[in-house]
Amino acid sequence: MTSLESAGVERSHVRMTPGAIAGLRSACPKDSHNGRVARVARRIRHLSLEVAGDPVSFRGTIQSVPDVPNPHEDSAFLLACRRRPVPHTPVWFMRQAGRSLPEYREVRAGIPMMEACARPDLIVEITMQPVRRYAVDAAIFFSDIVVPLKAIGIDLDIKPGVGPVIADPIRDAAAVDRLRPLEPGDVPFVTEAIGELTCELGGTPLIGFAGGPFTLASYLIEGGPSKTHDRTKAIMYGEPGLWARLLDRLADIAIAYLKVQVDAGARAIQIFDSWVGGVSPEDYRRSVLPHSRKIFTALEPHGVPRIHFGVGTGELLGLMGEAGADVVGVDWRVPLDEAVRRVDAGKALQGNLDPAILLAPWDVVAERAREVLAHGRTAEGHVFNLGHGVLPATDPDVLARLTDFVHRESVAR
Ligand code: CP3
Repeated sequence: MTSLESAGVERSHVRMTPGAIAGLRSACPKDSHNGRVARVARRIRHLSLEVAGDPVSFRGTIQSVPDVPNPHEDSAFLLACRRRPVPHTPVWFMRQAGRSLPEYREVRAGIPMMEACARPDLIVEITMQPVRRYAVDAAIFFSDIVVPLKAIGIDLDIKPGVGPVIADPIRDAAAVDRLRPLEPGDVPFVTEAIGELTCELGGTPLIGFAGGPFTLASYLIEGGPSKTHDRTKAIMYGEPGLWARLLDRLADIAIAYLKVQVDAGARAIQIFDSWVGGVSPEDYRRSVLPHSRKIFTALEPHGVPRIHFGVGTGELLGLMGEAGADVVGVDWRVPLDEAVRRVDAGKALQGNLDPAILLAPWDVVAERAREVLAHGRTAEGHVFNLGHGVLPATDPDVLARLTDFVHRESVAR
């Protein structure tokens, strides 16, 4: 099958004719949301399009339909990412799908994490769970940062209570060379699940994600979670050539994985470089930023907002923006008004309530959330989130109440 790109047609020159749009919409059984159109579009073999103003008839696969007026664009989440006026401050929570939800624990019972991440039915169900429960403004794809590594043949597992564990850590050139590129065919379950999700989600945008190069390198080099990333830094400092080759391959894998997600219907992407906060700004600039920049640059033509997050990255916020993010994620250590001073103009911010605050009485949660909103107002765009993932002990009712609170407080202004 051909795609528009392989037929040599530039996406920006393609307009769907009104008839084609109507045809696609009528093929959507439940509604006419664009997510649905994108999904149906992939199945269509024959479509009338205009290329640079001239009508053409096209046979092949349409990966996505970027030129159709998009109802998701009006979503508060995408507007805030694009630093446009919002009806209310949008909110979603990192790890909103996970162990804090009884319905998550129920569907995951007896199913290993990596198996759940490869089953479209479970991916769809778990991604939808928080969206059903909370009025969050975005969904995040249920997966894990190590899924694309497993998909290219790395022997790894996610151990409960531990995290990703790699059977043969990558510490030399031969091991780096075995990291092959990711092909869309390696992750058919991602394409299938996102196709389903864009239908189920209607107007709620889906965030796709990938692990950042430092964080993935750390898991691969250490062989598992590490607090200090000693071996990782030893290679970063001591074998810069090997380090650059490893991070370059990881960047290419992230690019391929993110493109699969965006082509399937993800409306924004987030790079989780969760553990990069242990690196100094100078070393970040020298040894990590070029690889993160490669990822953000490759995604630019896709036109989706790009979010960049890490834990303990207060000293790196400016550089993480510089790497090419549209939205910089901030953990709870730096107030958002200070984060505004640390990033260049032209960036939105995401964050940053300490997840542990949700374990305190509601009055404390409300007061602290109000502060986050006040500081967030100094940013050009603000997506409310936690400073890191939802803790498993969090009461889902508190997250529901917090979502409503953020919406009401931000409308009232
Ligand atoms: O945010 C979401 O709701 C989407 C799902 C998501 C998961 N992992 C599901 C998951 C996302 C975005 C991730 C990314 C991820 N995975 C990161 C970056 C985000 C962050 O937290 O900084 C990292 C560092 C990982 C690696 C990883 N995977 C860890 C540290 C763990 C936790 C280990 C544990 O048991 O405490 C995992 C497993 C994991 N990924 C779980 C979930 C819901 C828990 C597994 C389970 O439920 O058994």
